Amino acid sequence: MSTVLAIDQGTSGTKAVVVDEHGATIALAEVELRPSYLPGGGVEQDPHALLDSVLTAGRAALARAGRPVDAVALANQGETVLAWDPRTGAPLSPAIVWQDRRAQPVCARLKEHAPWVTARTGLVLDPYFSAPKMAWLRSDVTTEGVVTTVDTWLVHRLTGEYVTDAATASRSLLMDLDSLTWDPELTALFGLGDERLPRIVDCAETVGTTTAFGRPIPVTGLVTDQQAALFAEGCLESATAKCTYGTGAFLLANTGNTAPRSAAGLTTSVAWRTQHSTRYCVDGQVYTAASAVRWLQNLGLIASASQLDTVAARESDGTLCVPALAGLAAPWWRGDATATFAGMTLSTGREHLVLAVLQGIAAQVATVCGLVGDDLGAPLTRLRADGGLTRSRTLMQAQADIAQLPVDIYPSAHATALGAAALARLSLDPALSPREALGHWEPVSVYEPAWSADRAAHFRRTWETAAEAAPRKGELA
Ligand code: G3P
Repeated sequence: MSTVLAIDQGTSGTKAVVVDEHGATIALAEVELRPSYLPGGGVEQDPHALLDSVLTAGRAALARAGRPVDAVALANQGETVLAWDPRTGAPLSPAIVWQDRRAQPVCARLKEHAPWVTARTGLVLDPYFSAPKMAWLRSDVTTEGVVTTVDTWLVHRLTGEYVTDAATASRSLLMDLDSLTWDPELTALFGLGDERLPRIVDCAETVGTTTAFGRPIPVTGLVTDQQAALFAEGCLESATAKCTYGTGAFLLANTGNTAPRSAAGLTTSVAWRTQHSTRYCVDGQVYTAASAVRWLQNLGLIASASQLDTVAARESDGTLCVPALAGLAAPWWRGDATATFAGMTLSTGREHLVLAVLQGIAAQVATVCGLVGDDLGAPLTRLRADGGLTRSRTLMQAQADIAQLPVDIYPSAHATALGAAALARLSLDPALSPREALGHWEPVSVYEPAWSADRAAHFRRTWETAAEAAPRKGELA
């Protein structure tokens, strides 16, 4: 087994973890990033800050580990894109973050093509995915250079190679999900037919060598962050699922070696591809989880996320929240939906509002759990959970109650990095099985449903009705 520097380049920060040959975390360094939120739904990051964060966190983690590593692995944000000069590596645009909604007109213009696009890609025609944002960059920002997801740019800066992994490519709306190749009809549809697209590589494939961290180190273990966490949490068999509670909450369920198209408004993509096999997953997205908690903080209702459990009421007193602060994703796909609170009276306090937001996050995840069960033909039996918000006992208990599933909390705060490290390990030692590469873990805690099935069903019906009715942005003004 090998020692790996695994870098998780996310929306709110970059985390670098040195993982030893036993899968243990021996060093950690983090750099915070603050996306810019612009009028009109823009969400941008400075590419220089992204690259600096990768280098700074990686070098600091290596210095702390005090030993050499055998590989560098990189998990990326998935659908965040930028334009850049392939000769110099210089950025030609800001990084347009997955949350950015400015490509909505691109999707509206192509609306009539949505059914075949979904059939071909497994995805929904929505600005969340990469291609609409790439098309928007081309029409509204620059025609220069290449336009790619950020992983391609970061790997180019590290190694000089021009690649993306199959999982990240499968989040683009440009790849045929069955052949795992760029699809010329799709690139033409988005007006990207003349673009130079990167070579699609396996998630466990050495793509080059970097000297950015000192002596030359192979770069391997390239994967989308959500898929990395799915791998780390051992969701290797069909119908096993995890939810990562980060900036947003992302539920992914393994569908094995087939890529069923969702009948329920979820999306299907590559979980990971190795030299041995390709695994697929269905997923549903909640755009605001930690960002809804940060919003509570901005309003002064809590001082920090660590106060959630002390402030939140035990019962909501009838207060309900649809925390659609950045629109609603699967299965509604209403980017223009806004958040609502309902059921408040003069006795409603901040404790009820805080609980209602947490229940609203849990209710969206529970809706996705139910739909995953519909798509797979059998209900989920457990949910694995990771991410910063799993520290909130109130949220995790609400999750178990509303989804009516036991929730297993992953023991490390670094699931994404550990997943990328395990994929790197698979690539360095192909004799390993995926299970051996990721190692054994036990949940650090398990939340069992305390609500009755009737109470949960009633809550979910009420909450879903409120979600359907969430007002469009500007509708009430
Ligand atoms: O699809 C976007 C998602 O993968 C981003 O995750 O952890 O950067 O918020 P994160």
